[in-house]
Amino acid sequence: MSRGLPSPSIPFAVHGAVDEIELRSLGLSADDVTDFSASVNPFGPSPSVHEALRNVTLNRYPDRHCEALTRKVAEQHGVAIENVLVGNGASELLWLAALTILRPGDRALVLGPTYGEYVRACRIAEAEPVELRASESDRFRPDLASVAEDRASAVFLCNPNNPTGRLIPRDALADISSQRPDQTWIVDEAYQDYLASESSMICLEAPNILVVRSLTKAHALAALRVGYAIGPSGLIGAMREHQPPWSVNSMAQAAAVAALSDTAHLRATVDRLRREGGRMSDTLATGGWPILATDTPYFLVRVGDATGFRRELLGKGILVRDATSFGLPSWIRISPRRPKENDRFLAAMDDLR
Ligand SMILES: Cc1ncc(COP(=O)(O)O)c(C=O)c1O
Repeated sequence: MSRGLPSPSIPFAVHGAVDEIELRSLGLSADDVTDFSASVNPFGPSPSVHEALRNVTLNRYPDRHCEALTRKVAEQHGVAIENVLVGNGASELLWLAALTILRPGDRALVLGPTYGEYVRACRIAEAEPVELRASESDRFRPDLASVAEDRASAVFLCNPNNPTGRLIPRDALADISSQRPDQTWIVDEAYQDYLASESSMICLEAPNILVVRSLTKAHALAALRVGYAIGPSGLIGAMREHQPPWSVNSMAQAAAVAALSDTAHLRATVDRLRREGGRMSDTLATGGWPILATDTPYFLVRVGDATGFRRELLGKGILVRDATSFGLPSWIRISPRRPKENDRFLAAMDDLR
C-alpha cells in the first residue's frame, strides 16, 4: 500500500466484552463477572468443533486459500467460490473492504447509530465517513431515501443493527441499493444468524453489494477469529490481494467448517437464546424499564446514566454494554445468556429500580 501511516492518529472504536485491564483496576478478574455485553452465543459452539480442533496439525502452516472453508461457505449460500473471501473475523474483512473500495477523500455513509469499526475502517482508508443517524423518535429507522440521493461512493450498514437489534427488510435495501449501482453497499450481517428467519442480502447477487458475516457471534467462535465476505468476484479478488498471508489460522478454519456443518446446533441454541431475550425484555418492561423492540436476542434498555449504571452493575459482577459510544448515553445493551445467569441479571435490575 502506498498510503503510509495515517495521520493524525485514528481513535480506537469502543467494544463490549471483558476488558482485563479495566477489571484488574477494580480488583476483579474475568471469572468474577458474567458478561452480558458481548453478543456471543452463551451455549457455545457445536460439539463437533472440539473434535475438529483435536485434528489440527500445529506444526503445519494453515491453508492460505482456506479452501475447505471457502467451499463450505459457497455451498451453504449457493454462490461460486470466487464470490467468497474468508477472513480473520468480520473485522478484518470490513477493513479490507474499506481499503479496497475507498480512495482517499471518498465520502462513505455510515447508517447510525451503529458499530464503531466502520468509521475507523473509513479513516484508515483516508476516506471521509459521514454518519447518517436515525433518531430515537423514529425508532432508529434509517432514512434510506436520503442514502440514494447522497453522492457517497460507499454505504456501511449493519443488518440487523448493533446496538439497536433492528432489521431493515431485505426488499427495502434491495430497492434502494439498486437505484445507485455506482454506490457500493457494505452490509455487515454479523448478527443475521440470530434472526428468527434470515433476511440476507447474499442471495441477491447484486453487483454493488458486499456482505460480511461473522462466526464469532451465533456460532460462538469468538476466540478463533473467523468470518467471511460474499460479493462480486472482482471486488472479492481485489480484497484478497490486500489480505495478509495466513490470516486465518488452521484451528479457525477447521472449527468454522465444523460449525457451519452443524445447522441443527445453531438453530436449537439460537431459538433458546431468542426465547431468553424475549423473557428478559418482557420482564424488564413489566418492571417499568423502557426497552427498544428488537429483531435479535440482544436489546437496548434505557437506564438514565448508562456509564454510571454499568459501573454499578459491574460492582455486582454483571457486565453490560454502555451504549454511550454509540451516541446513546442513556441506554445499555443486554445480550442474554443462560437462564440462571439471566435470572441473576433480572434480580440485579430489580434492585436498581
Ligand atoms: C456489527 C459487528 N460487526 C462485526 C463485528 C466483529 O466481528 P468479528 O468478531 O467477526 O470480527 C462485531 C463485533 O462486535 C459487530 O458488532
